[in-house]
Amino acid sequence: MKNKIVAGNWKMNKLQKEAKKLIKTLIPLVKDTTNTVVICVPYTDLATAVKLCKDTNIHVGAQNCHWKESGAFTGEIAPSMLKEIGVEYVVIGHSERRTYFGETDATVLQRTQAALAAGLKPIVCIGETLEERNSGNMENVLKRQIVEGFKDITADQLANIVVAYEPVWAIGTGVTATDQQANDAIGFCRSVFEEKYGKEAADNLYIQYGGSMNEKNAEALLNMPHIDGGLIGGASLVAEKFAAVVNAHK
Ligand code: PGA
Repeated sequence: MKNKIVAGNWKMNKLQKEAKKLIKTLIPLVKDTTNTVVICVPYTDLATAVKLCKDTNIHVGAQNCHWKESGAFTGEIAPSMLKEIGVEYVVIGHSERRTYFGETDATVLQRTQAALAAGLKPIVCIGETLEERNSGNMENVLKRQIVEGFKDITADQLANIVVAYEPVWAIGTGVTATDQQANDAIGFCRSVFEEKYGKEAADNLYIQYGGSMNEKNAEALLNMPHIDGGLIGGASLVAEKFAAVVNAHK
């Protein structure tokens, strides 16, 4: 049986003082879980988070990284810079990055490759918009994101990647996919991975659900067979709520 990977995506929230308070409250609340706990915090909170989470079961992640090791890329952060300060995970290709910052399947692949090369664990986000779902294109979109976004990824590399299925229409909207919708979509994604990597690799792959997941709906979602965890936005900003999601699955 796989445990679950529950990751908080703080997005662009929390000054250092607030981050410290949240993390200090969170540590005792999640200390007994068998699930993997990750908090993906803004760059400016990373060092603080790494320091506070040392010797705890909470892992720290960033929310993006560039594909080059160094150079003239004003405003970007290299994977090795994250690794150096003790960051373990990095979110890549979040729908907000795809929508607002021109992220494409090709750049997602480049960032993922660079993150892996630096020894980080990428959390690669995929998901369809409402328009794509309603026009019957959900499977085409997910398949394209997987085929293009994982083009050169080997089976060995896949073992170090977490995938987050996040229907864009459920992110920050309060509208959650039903347990069945989320499970079906993730099952479909898994079948696409299986075509390329085989059944064992696809079964072993962690695929999270993300989109308005919270302390109320987490248990049902995490009980679905294909859902291997969650990527939690809004509810991860309150320690008690995020802890309740982490602890929703024993
Ligand atoms: P949400 O965000 O939980 O606030 O919907 C999820 C995400 O964007 O990762």
